[in-house]
Amino acid sequence: MGFAGLWESLLPLGRDPETGGYRRYSFTPADAACRRWFEAAAAERGLPAGCDRNGNLFARWQGPSGTALVIGSHLDSVPDGGAYDGALGVVSGFAAIDLLRARGFAPARPVVVAAFCEEEGARFGTACLGSRLLTGAADPEAARELRDADGVTLAEAMNTAGLDPAGIGPDEDLLSGFGVFVELHIEQGSALDGLGAAVGIAEGIWPHGRWRLEFTGRADHAGTTRLADRRDPMLPYAATVLAARQAAAGRGALATLGKVTAEPGGANAISSLVRAWLDARAPEEAALRGVVAEVEATARRTAADHRVEFGIRQESFIPPVNFDRVLRARVASVIGAHGKPAPVLATGAGHDAGVLAARLPTAMLFVRNPSGVSHSPAEHATMADCEAGVAALATVIEELAG
Ligand code: GLV
Ligand code: MN
Ligand code: MN
Repeated sequence: MGFAGLWESLLPLGRDPETGGYRRYSFTPADAACRRWFEAAAAERGLPAGCDRNGNLFARWQGPSGTALVIGSHLDSVPDGGAYDGALGVVSGFAAIDLLRARGFAPARPVVVAAFCEEEGARFGTACLGSRLLTGAADPEAARELRDADGVTLAEAMNTAGLDPAGIGPDEDLLSGFGVFVELHIEQGSALDGLGAAVGIAEGIWPHGRWRLEFTGRADHAGTTRLADRRDPMLPYAATVLAARQAAAGRGALATLGKVTAEPGGANAISSLVRAWLDARAPEEAALRGVVAEVEATARRTAADHRVEFGIRQESFIPPVNFDRVLRARVASVIGAHGKPAPVLATGAGHDAGVLAARLPTAMLFVRNPSGVSHSPAEHATMADCEAGVAALATVIEELAG
């Protein structure tokens, strides 16, 4: 089957009919449907497949010997995410195998298609949780206790999905069988469009992280409480949103407060608690730390001004990633066109490739996104570019597993 048929078969799963966005949250029915889709895609190709102890899926094209070339990405989404982020890499992995088989290519080493679990951290707050647990970058004890917005722990959610949370954590046996990882992903900006290239390569990933901020005030009546008597957590929260923008702008960084909850959430009441999440990214770690320090300082100062308590907790942090230079040059040269290597781009977006890069040579391919938009239903790639991505991935497999 070509790319298009496989792509179409995944498209309806987890899509919200109202928004057209995807809600593929880990260990939910939508996630189970995606997992069944992965297993069916593997079975149709006669590739043995399974789930590791951390909820990551793998399908294996057997080769005579050696460590595996791992390709793939993730199937989970952000709230109302686009169709391509993650899914494109998994579908392209299977489609590249189809293409190579049609050409009569037999790999000299195993080729494994991967779908890593909870990459977005949309349900439990920690990005790249599946790959971080696998590589030992996340503590399994703490991970089991992570809670979603309804207070359900990761352990409970895994149990509900028929997976055993007792087994999560580093898996050196599995990792030792992996020799190289190549993640294909939609570009989450419009650089390739500007360069007129369908496919590019990642140079590295900016350091980035997430911080949870809590402003605790006192619930009270909106119509009777004098301004001077209020302990309104919304006020320091509002100052913090503006401070994040300013702190980022001054450092060539990015800072976003994209999620906020207010309790009890009455339109005619002062909130008792405002929780907000800061996502910050920067080209250098020092700039990132500077942004977070400045945001925290403003939050503390303005909270004190309004007699509001303030707390901050780092939920995840990924240090800067520079992908393997030798591998990058090799991949750029084989997929380049007209004698020129493929363009190389830095990105502020996080990926499992960034986690795996700490343990094995890793590369990333990006596919052009003319909308330039991601983490939104407007995310888009043309069918021709998706097919160019599959062809590039197949070329990389021939190079690294030939
Ligand atoms: C993942 O897409 C991230 O960059 O947050
Ligand atoms: Mn994403
Ligand atoms: Mn992604």
